[in-house]
Amino acid sequence: MKKQHDDSHNSLWSFEELPPARPAQAQRHRNGAPAEGATKRIEEKEDGGGGEETIKSFPREVFARLAEDAEHAGGEWQEQDYGPGYVGQTLFDTPASEDNTVTVVLPRANIGKVPAQAPVRIQSTDKRSYLGIVVRGPFAEPDGIRGDSPIVITTSVHGTVFLPDYHGRVQVQLLGEELGGKGGQLVPQRFRPLPKSPVYVLTSEEMARVLKLEGEIELGLAIGHEELVVRVPARRKSLWFRHLGILGTTGGGKSTTVSGLVSQLQRQGFATILIDTEGEYTTIDEPTEDETMLAALQRRQKEPAGVEQVTIYHLVGRRTANPKPKHATVQPFCLSFEQLSPYLVCELLEMTEAQQERYLRAYDITKQLLQQLKISPRAGEDANWLLELDELEEGYRGMRLEHIYDVVRACSSLVEKAEENIEFTSPDFKAASQTVLPKLKSAARGLPGAPPSWKALQGKLRRLLNLRIFDHHKAQPLQYDQMLGRGQVAIIDLSDTDSPQINNLVIAELLRGVHRYQDEHYARLEQQQERQAVKDSEGLVPVMVIIEEAHEFLSAERVRQMPTLFQQVARIARRGRKRWLGLSFVTQLPQHLPDEVLGLINNVILHKITDANVISRLKRSIGGIDEGLWTRLPNLAPGQAIVALDGMIQPFLVAIDPTPCKLRMVDELAPASERFPPLSSGKVLPISRWAWKDQGCVPGYPHRAPALGFSSSTEARESR
Ligand SMILES: Nc1ncnc2c1ncn2[C@@H]1O[C@H](COP(=O)(O)OP(=O)(O)OP(=O)(O)O)[C@@H](O)[C@H]1O
Ligand SMILES: [Mg+2]
Repeated sequence: MKKQHDDSHNSLWSFEELPPARPAQAQRHRNGAPAEGATKRIEEKEDGGGGEETIKSFPREVFARLAEDAEHAGGEWQEQDYGPGYVGQTLFDTPASEDNTVTVVLPRANIGKVPAQAPVRIQSTDKRSYLGIVVRGPFAEPDGIRGDSPIVITTSVHGTVFLPDYHGRVQVQLLGEELGGKGGQLVPQRFRPLPKSPVYVLTSEEMARVLKLEGEIELGLAIGHEELVVRVPARRKSLWFRHLGILGTTGGGKSTTVSGLVSQLQRQGFATILIDTEGEYTTIDEPTEDETMLAALQRRQKEPAGVEQVTIYHLVGRRTANPKPKHATVQPFCLSFEQLSPYLVCELLEMTEAQQERYLRAYDITKQLLQQLKISPRAGEDANWLLELDELEEGYRGMRLEHIYDVVRACSSLVEKAEENIEFTSPDFKAASQTVLPKLKSAARGLPGAPPSWKALQGKLRRLLNLRIFDHHKAQPLQYDQMLGRGQVAIIDLSDTDSPQINNLVIAELLRGVHRYQDEHYARLEQQQERQAVKDSEGLVPVMVIIEEAHEFLSAERVRQMPTLFQQVARIARRGRKRWLGLSFVTQLPQHLPDEVLGLINNVILHKITDANVISRLKRSIGGIDEGLWTRLPNLAPGQAIVALDGMIQPFLVAIDPTPCKLRMVDELAPASERFPPLSSGKVLPISRWAWKDQGCVPGYPHRAPALGFSSSTEARESR
């Protein structure tokens, strides 16, 4: 005689909650026969107070026979021992059942053993072994009655006296079948577990192995588990070099996640570059002092620690948010005009078609002049690079902004027939003006006319020149060999530029420079026939470029306005994997990232996102995340995130580890989204409508200096 549950669990009402039972009933034996004492009392009671016995005692032989029969049938009922880790059983399918998921029911006592995301093993009664993960539940359902039935609701409202007992139910998504049984290799399943198959929870070690949560980089604890640490390998190309999106609303925990990652990637030998639009990361060389972080670190038995080998780069003439870091080095840098594709310059300066035509003509004339004056290529220089020059990617080597400005200005004077106004800013042209002038005149023959277009173009270049961020004598351009050394961390502090456009110039040049450096390094290694070394990344330093406020750099609007910029980013993203160059896009406004950009991202860490439209868009572009996880996204607490990284068998809800390093408080600044509203919000006018006019302030921004920072930095600061 086998029985699944004991009486207290099998009954509709819990045993303790029943009104006091009649003693005789309460003492009935399991097989239905009254116990000996009980029989006697019945006899006494029925006797009516001491008369003749009306009910005879059961003959003792009957009990003996019953006991014999029971023994014969296998002895007294005992709960089946399914072994350690057993939690429940699979249920029959219903018309509502879905492929790849099975329903598992559990006794009340086991509900706590299968939290959300718990990995389980199902030992199907057909001897197949499956692994799965809890994607919905655990739910507590009343035994034998619907949880929303009126009687349950009514009794709940009025107290718990008649509340039924309950059991647990979870929905398990199948991850695969273990080949050859328990512990075997996981392969896609061809069948489903049969009903009434026992289900087991895995140990933490087994979970980490099965879920492929092993590696050097620790992200945090899987939510719902005490010990399950979500780890990923530092050398997984498909993760780090097929690009990462860290998305979530303000305060969701993105910067904490980023700084924690930087600290770990640094220790793994990555060169990390962080585009820091608010100067928030300029203190990561120090250990955190934040009380919450310290408490959270202690809970995870981790120590506060600053990041090593940090250099803070800031644009020449602009300040850094942390001029005196404790351990980091501060270095000003300038941009290098020769790095910028002429087409990118046209886009960045939002030139009209007429201006573009004139700019490209002037660009060609400048090239000819540089060649004729032997400024570039220099006399005796190997000029092979000229043959390989791809002007969609980069500018002309040796060309400075003042060179092309001088040419545009001269052309403007020539078409105006005001030759006497020609003057040169560039020391190169000034020194050789006797040679330059006649050459210019002959090259300028047949130029398009329309002096206003030339003037407008000249004005735009003048303003760019006034920024004094190109080819500055007081600073060097970014030195990639230094920046991309093993374990180097570069914080590109753009907090004082006050202009998304300048930031974009920096980011565009930086990405190009990093890509070129990795490309050349990779080619050199290949030439040296160190293919094996390249594969093992011994020779190539892995690089991670993290772009905060990515929606500013690559908003839908900007991608449309600046196709060359986007093409460059897309090319870098495509080639990144082979060259160990990864991009991370961080944004609190993922709705502004166009599909093209989302399409570059194969890995995501999603902090809290409340906007239903954004969630449904992300759902379309990010596969593999279960509906149950998506529904939790709007309610995540700071620091919690859905982590869907390549190589993980399943996306996970993770309590991201607190950061060991110090983030600079930027509370005194308005959030970046307010300081730099996205173009589409209509608050910021297109560059051509304000940046190039000599106006004291920007429409809609009465307290700000001419935006784009095309004013001096001091002016911008004073007006803040
Ligand atoms: N992993 C974490 N562990 C503990 N607390 C966290 C964690 N992440 C974030 N927090 C808490 O949330 C706060 C905000 O986090 P953080 O600055 O990283 O958010 P953010 O997404 O970068 O915000 P913003 O979009 O404004 O830059 C932190 O100051 C901290 O108190
Ligand atoms: Mg942040």
